[in-house]
Amino acid sequence: EMKDNTIIIVLGASGDLAKKKTFPALFALFRQGFLPTDVKICGYARTKMDAANFHSRAVSYIKNPGEDPAVTASIQKFKDILTYVDGSYDDGAAFVVLNTHLEEIESKYTSKDNEADGIEKNRLFYFALPPSVFVPVAKNLKENCYVKGAGVNRVIVEKPFGKDLDSARQLLSSLKEYWTEDETFRIDHYLGKEMVKNLLVLRFANVAFSSGWDKNHISNVQITFKEPFGTEGRGGYFDSFGIIRDVLQNHLLQVLSILTMERPVSFSAEDIRDEKVKVLRSIPPITQEDTLLGQYVGANGKPGYLEDDTVPRGSVCPTFAATTLWIHNPRWEGVPFILKAGKALNEAKVEVRVQFKDVTQGIFKDITRNELVIRIQPSEAVYLKVNTKTPGLQTRAMATEMDLTYNRRFSNAKIPEAYETLILDALLGDHSNFVRHDELDVAWKIFTPILHWIDGQSGTAPKPVPYAYGSRGPPELNAFVERFGFQRT
Ligand code: BG6
Repeated sequence: EMKDNTIIIVLGASGDLAKKKTFPALFALFRQGFLPTDVKICGYARTKMDAANFHSRAVSYIKNPGEDPAVTASIQKFKDILTYVDGSYDDGAAFVVLNTHLEEIESKYTSKDNEADGIEKNRLFYFALPPSVFVPVAKNLKENCYVKGAGVNRVIVEKPFGKDLDSARQLLSSLKEYWTEDETFRIDHYLGKEMVKNLLVLRFANVAFSSGWDKNHISNVQITFKEPFGTEGRGGYFDSFGIIRDVLQNHLLQVLSILTMERPVSFSAEDIRDEKVKVLRSIPPITQEDTLLGQYVGANGKPGYLEDDTVPRGSVCPTFAATTLWIHNPRWEGVPFILKAGKALNEAKVEVRVQFKDVTQGIFKDITRNELVIRIQPSEAVYLKVNTKTPGLQTRAMATEMDLTYNRRFSNAKIPEAYETLILDALLGDHSNFVRHDELDVAWKIFTPILHWIDGQSGTAPKPVPYAYGSRGPPELNAFVERFGFQRT
């Protein structure tokens, strides 16, 4: 349920996340009328600026505003709901100042007939912050900016949640001292993507898919993330995390869990997440033998990873990883799930590729395996590779596609940004697309041993194989996927 009398407080309002994702998403929601009536958005950061300065800064974050007068008018109105407070992250007194500012806004709320226990005051705190200040900010907010009485307090936080199982547990339990599970919305922005949300519908609203969704029909599954650019100045952050923590342990594992979980009892947040946790618990930690690590080197005029000034010299941090997961349950026993992610590759693409088994040998020649491809981005699509009769007098089979490419089939639909749908869900109090604490715990269990090996905690750190900037990945990749039964169709 959407609550009126809400203030959204963006902490870290002048940082990168706020600029690239939070403010554009807030504006998009505002413009489409999805924010609560009379909402106010309060920025908080260390930078000192006046209101006018903050307005123009926040507005400059809006992507491609264009010349459309309706958009220009919305931007004007958006400015009116923005306020700003500056202060540090570790000083309680600064948060008292923030609280006074919020109370001033709230003092103008008027009561409604049904508010017997007082006027509701709702605050949604959005952490667009580096992890080093998660705990002090959580503490300071709880101690100084938490409204008691009618209304709800919520926090939105986003990875990195630690670096391995122990550090993640420690961080989560520190945060839990101040904010309950119910008040906490942990973002994995892949859960807000249209095609990831579509997985539930595809799987559970179609007998055609749900019946063959198992080891008897499926040979192997690949979940692939490709980006055509390198770390480009973000090497400092990236190098201490690596591609597995950056993309596989969270985004790709989330996709895997939705793709493989059993049908939830209902679509409630707890029922869905119970099933996700259950399937994740059936996955043993990934092994060195089932993992291929790569690091990009300069090519085609583009610099290699080690030539990025923000990357430590001689780093063996992987910028590419392929790793195979196994699910030990009756549905999936023996089916390899290959997760692959890399930076500085030949294209931008995220997709799921479900490769079915061969048809029993017999009457047809030249037929290929069925493959269901769910392209998460760009150009959202679902297509099924099928064999069909070549049209005409001869009876010959040929490979073709049943194609549901969104911009053709739904040409007028606007596909929302992940952050738009997630902020909206948090405002509605719906946890379905947020990461529960036990989900995070089991995700770290799967990846921690391999990460410790990669970090050199159990001896010498492995050296990733080189691949050229702009290539399809390490040359070893083809043999790797073939080892797990993948056939190029
Ligand atoms: C982030 C990673 O979580 O996801 C980035 O830290 C990555 O390295 C990004 O580029 C990818 O998100 P999207 O939405 O562009 O696919």
